[in-house]
Amino acid sequence: MENETFSAPKETIPLLTPFSMKNFNLSHRIVMAPMGRMRAYGNVPQPQAALYYSQRTTPGGFLIGEATGVSETAMAYQNIPGIWKKEQIEAWKPIIDAVHSKGGVFFCQLWHAGRVSHRDCQPNGEAPVSSTDKPIAADPSNEFINFTPPRRLTIEEIPNVINDFRLAARSQETQLKLVMRPRVIYKKRFDGVEIHGAHGFLIDQFIKDTVNDRTDSYGGSLENRCRFALEIIEAVTNEIGSDRVGIRLSPFANYMESGDSNPEQLGIYMAKSLNRFEILYCHMVEPRMKTVSELFECSESLTPMRKAFQGTFIVAGGYTREDGNKAVGEGRGDLVAYGRLFLANPDLPRRFKLDAPLNKYDRSSYYVSDPVVGYTDYPFLNTTDQHKH
Ligand code: PHB
Repeated sequence: MENETFSAPKETIPLLTPFSMKNFNLSHRIVMAPMGRMRAYGNVPQPQAALYYSQRTTPGGFLIGEATGVSETAMAYQNIPGIWKKEQIEAWKPIIDAVHSKGGVFFCQLWHAGRVSHRDCQPNGEAPVSSTDKPIAADPSNEFINFTPPRRLTIEEIPNVINDFRLAARSQETQLKLVMRPRVIYKKRFDGVEIHGAHGFLIDQFIKDTVNDRTDSYGGSLENRCRFALEIIEAVTNEIGSDRVGIRLSPFANYMESGDSNPEQLGIYMAKSLNRFEILYCHMVEPRMKTVSELFECSESLTPMRKAFQGTFIVAGGYTREDGNKAVGEGRGDLVAYGRLFLANPDLPRRFKLDAPLNKYDRSSYYVSDPVVGYTDYPFLNTTDQHKH
């Protein structure tokens, strides 16, 4: 496929126009979406991640790293990276450096799995924590995990979890103070963080009314269900500055039995509430992504949330080159996040520019723990192709 000829378009496409996201001058609108990759053995980021992310870096390109646990209790599957221990924080540095040395902007996605976990992944084999004690039905088709019924967080414990997000966000700032040459160190910390508030994990377990069955100030009304997410945003923005904080939300999704009876109202409420904190961006998953692998026809859209939110709006969910261009061209999103296409095409911005054929993603190797296969072995476009036109 790499040697096929194709006609490179002459005109600039909307996806390849620059965008200023506050302090970050992005050279194009094609964002690398956060993707769990399960190659961080023992929950410590590995050297091969430097190559993986650097392959996908362009000068002025924006990359969101894979979901990264904020604490021991945040974890679910095997080989997910964390950012609460010194060893993990240190291991991220060469990876961050690899992205920065190619001029990329790199955010860390901060994650807590909540009830999407098993006691074997929890400290002392305890039950995972959640907004609820309702379990997720065991899914025999899930190759990674069977879930242990969760334990509902008490209201007294909630500030500790919020604090874990705050500490994870500032874990790299602490390093700054120890070193004399701030410019060098600046290169070795993430440029910012994305709070993972999507896909049925802990924050979503608070937000969504089919999961949250609390009767305290974190349950019941929409305002109460969103309180946990907004308190995390408040704590993290206070710690590292609102210009370095984004959030990912999937109001319409129903992953991990985490759906809502009124997703549009929920999405608009969150978008408006986030304005108060002046965070950098809101990253939303399209309503058509009701499950991870299939697109559904639907009449709902993210436009009401896009209109309600005052910062940068990132859309995600099964985008192609064509509909990504349309979304940016029509102002439905400032940036478009690509997961599967970016995984399979490390040089995705260049392929989009040339309208070159794309490598196909291989679902069977998404989550194998191999340091190369399905990770750093997707081919780049043949370098001679760019000279054909
Ligand atoms: C997700 O956001 O869907 C997600 C997060 C972490 C993983 C896999 C998937 O390890």
